[in-house]
Amino acid sequence: MPAVDHPPEISDLIVDFDPDTGARRRVRKADVEAQFGGFRQRRALRVVRGIPADSEGFLVESAVDELLVRVHAEIQRLSEEFMQARRVHDALAPLLDGLRASSVTPPYRVVDVGCGTGYLIRWLAAQGDLGSDVELIGADYNTALVDHARRLAAVEGLRCSFEVCNAFRLDEPATIYTSIGVIHHFRGDALTQFFAHQAAAGARAFLHFDIRASVVAPIGAWLFHIARMREPLAHHDGVLSAIRSHPTQTLLTAARAGAPGLEVGLFDEDRLPLPILKVMHAVVGVDPLLVGAWRAALGGESSRLELGVSR
Ligand SMILES: C[S@@+](CC[C@H](N)C(=O)[O-])C[C@H]1O[C@@H](n2cnc3c(N)ncnc32)[C@H](O)[C@@H]1O
Repeated sequence: MPAVDHPPEISDLIVDFDPDTGARRRVRKADVEAQFGGFRQRRALRVVRGIPADSEGFLVESAVDELLVRVHAEIQRLSEEFMQARRVHDALAPLLDGLRASSVTPPYRVVDVGCGTGYLIRWLAAQGDLGSDVELIGADYNTALVDHARRLAAVEGLRCSFEVCNAFRLDEPATIYTSIGVIHHFRGDALTQFFAHQAAAGARAFLHFDIRASVVAPIGAWLFHIARMREPLAHHDGVLSAIRSHPTQTLLTAARAGAPGLEVGLFDEDRLPLPILKVMHAVVGVDPLLVGAWRAALGGESSRLELGVSR
């Protein structure tokens, strides 16, 4: 693991999974407290102290799961307000049209990596306009979140599925990988490996959306989370996400190193003087043979896609 450059998020420390088998590993409460104590993260310490431990000092997994499901309900509310799924759809639907125009054989499998409780995939499935040749799959290493996503999709009668798997061990090949709010969790070499894994699995494209790093992003996140979030964990991790979001050039460099065969660039990079006006952007990679068809399908929105750029 690379040196930790910022305090960790609570949600990254209170669960642990074996990267090879996916099996859940028990987490000792005192170890998590020691990490946050070292960073003088008093609010995070308070959250961790509120999670019950068993007689051996390990966090009670059912309590952790219930907390994370509640937090993801709040993340979904925030995503709805910021119309995150609509933004992904704006890039994804023309990309799928580009695949069809380029005679790439269907079905087109779209995998949302780190899907949590499946907001994006469920939204896309409910929208129902991507085409019957598209398979929508959410993937997350947290079984409790995936189970919740499956339950919601069943209640909503949606045509999509959810898998428990590690972002670095994706077995199922996908045509397009996507994510929202996940890439800042991967630091240093892990970020390059994240892209490399998708390229090695034969992806024709990826679209990874996250908070755009800027001096005002943490302030905006703080204000928004104070006003809208109820769970202290969601508040803490939400603000930290804005602080930990990768600079644009870090994303471009890692994506190019990990996926040298894909044309790498940005979607929705903010060119306005006030970065607070556009909070999210995406690092994208696309098979060079598809670039023209994707641009053509984007039509008047094609200026939102910038390939071959540096920052
Ligand atoms: C901030 S949440 C975002 C959830 C979802 N994308 C959304 O927008 O609602 C980050 C998610 O990434 C998942 N995650 C983190 N590391 C992962 C890994 N190595 N493999 C799979 N999922 C991972 C977490 O379990 C969590 O659900």
